[in-house]
Amino acid sequence: MTATIDDSSSDLRTVRGPLIGLPHLLRLRRNPIHHNDVLRSSYGDVIKLNVFGTTLHACYGLDAAEQILINRDRDFANGPAWSHFIGPFFRRGLMLLDFDEHLHHRRILQHAFTQEAMRRYHAVMVPHIKAGIAGWGDVPNPRMNELFKQLTLDLALETFVGVDLSQAEQDRLNKAFIAAVRAGTSIVRKNVPGTPWAKGLAARKVLEEFFYAHLPAKRRDGGDDLFAQLCIARSEDGDEFSDADIVNHMIFLLMAAHDTSTITMSAMAYYLAKNPEWQEQARAESVAAGGSDYDAISSLDLQERIMKESLRLCSPVPSMPRVAVRDVSVNGYRIPEGSFVAVSPFYNHHDPSVWPDAERFDPERFAEDRREDKAHRMAFHAFGGGVHKCIGMHFAGIQVRAIFHELLLHYRWSVPADYEWPLDLVALPFPRDRLPVTLERL
Ligand code: HEM
Repeated sequence: MTATIDDSSSDLRTVRGPLIGLPHLLRLRRNPIHHNDVLRSSYGDVIKLNVFGTTLHACYGLDAAEQILINRDRDFANGPAWSHFIGPFFRRGLMLLDFDEHLHHRRILQHAFTQEAMRRYHAVMVPHIKAGIAGWGDVPNPRMNELFKQLTLDLALETFVGVDLSQAEQDRLNKAFIAAVRAGTSIVRKNVPGTPWAKGLAARKVLEEFFYAHLPAKRRDGGDDLFAQLCIARSEDGDEFSDADIVNHMIFLLMAAHDTSTITMSAMAYYLAKNPEWQEQARAESVAAGGSDYDAISSLDLQERIMKESLRLCSPVPSMPRVAVRDVSVNGYRIPEGSFVAVSPFYNHHDPSVWPDAERFDPERFAEDRREDKAHRMAFHAFGGGVHKCIGMHFAGIQVRAIFHELLLHYRWSVPADYEWPLDLVALPFPRDRLPVTLERL
C-alpha cells in the first residue's frame, strides 16, 4: 500500500469538514462513536477538523490505521505530532522520536523489557499489590478509579524508580507527575502563571532534578527497578544511554504506564461489575491458579481476554496523531505535507462490520476458536502498531493481571443494575464519578 502522491494521483478527493471545529469537538467528547459516525457519513472516510490549534485529519477505518501506523514508506512522523500536545513536558520520550533515532533508542530500551526483566518487576510489585489491596475493604465509599490510580502510582515508585523516599518526597513527586500529565490538556498553551501549562513546566523541572540527583547512585548500585535497568541497558552494538536520555525516558515511561494502566483496570472493573457472571468466572480462574508467582499470573488466560475486551471497548489512548512528512493519499483523499492525521482505536474498535454485536462485552471474542481480533491486521490496535507499538504491553499485561488476581481473590464488587459510567473524553478517558462500587470482602 503506497501512499506517496505522484502525477497519476490527480483523481484524489479533497478532504472536507465543518468550518468551525469546536462544537464538533464537544460532541465528540460527549458521544465519540455516534458523532464520528455522523461526521463520516457527512464528509467521507477522511474528515478535517480545526481543533487544538491545528487542522486535524481524522482517518477512519482499518486500512487507514494500517497505512499510518505501519508507515512502510516513512510518510508519517510521531515527533512533531505528539510534541504539539505533550512536547514541553515529555520531550525526547521514546514515542516522540522518529525513524533512525527512534530505532536506536528503542533497541537499547528493549533490554529493560525482556521476559527476564518482567519477572524481576513482577517480584518487586507483588508484596506492594498485596499490601495495597488489603486495605481497600476499609475505604469508605470506595471508587475504583481512585484506588487503581493510587495503587499504580505507588507501584511505579517501587518498580520504576526504586528509591527509598519519605512520604513528603513521594507526595512531591506524585504531585509533579500529575501536573505534568495534566498540562497537555491546558487551554492556554503558553507559560502564563497559574495555568496548567505553567504548572506542567515547573513540574517537569522537579522531575528532572529528582532523576538527575539519583542517577549517580543508581548507576553505581544497580537494582531490579526500571531506572537501574535503563542505566545498564545496552543495544547489541554496545550503545548505551546518556544521563539526559535516562532522565527523559524515565519521565516519559512513568507517564506512558500510569494513566493507561489505571484506565484499563477501571474499564475491567466496570465491565466485571456490570457482568457479574464474568467476574465469577475470572475469580474461579484465580482460585484454580493457586499462587501469585509469575507463571501463575501469566497463565490467567481468561483475565487476559477480559483485559483485551475492556481495551477494545475503552481504548486508553483513544487517538494517535502523526504529521505527514510529504503529500500522501489516505483512503483516496489528498493529505498535504505538514498535515496532522489521527487514527482512533476508540472509534475503530466499535465498528460492527469488524466486531459483531460491537457494543456487547464478550471476552470470548479473543478465544482461539473465534479470534475476531484477527479479522484485519489492525482490528485490535489499543497498543498501536508498527515501530511505535507499545513497548510496555507485556509489562501492563502482567501488572494488570497481578492486581486483578489479588482483587478477585479478596473482594467481590458490584454496581446498581442501571448504572452506566459517565466517561470523560477530554484527554484520555476516565469516569467522571471515579467509578463508585460496593466492595464486599470475601
Ligand atoms: C494497558 C496499558 C497501556 C496501553 C493501552 C498503552 C498504549 C500505547 C499506545 C497506543 C502506544 C502507541 C502510541 C503511538 O503510536 O502514537 C504506546 C506506546 C508506548 N507505550 Fe504504552 N500503553 C500501555 C502501557 C504501557 C506501559 C506499562 C509502559 C511502560 C512500562 C508503556 C510504555 C510505552 C512507550 C515507551 C511507548 C512508545 C513506544 C515507541 O514509540 O516506540 N506503555 N502505548
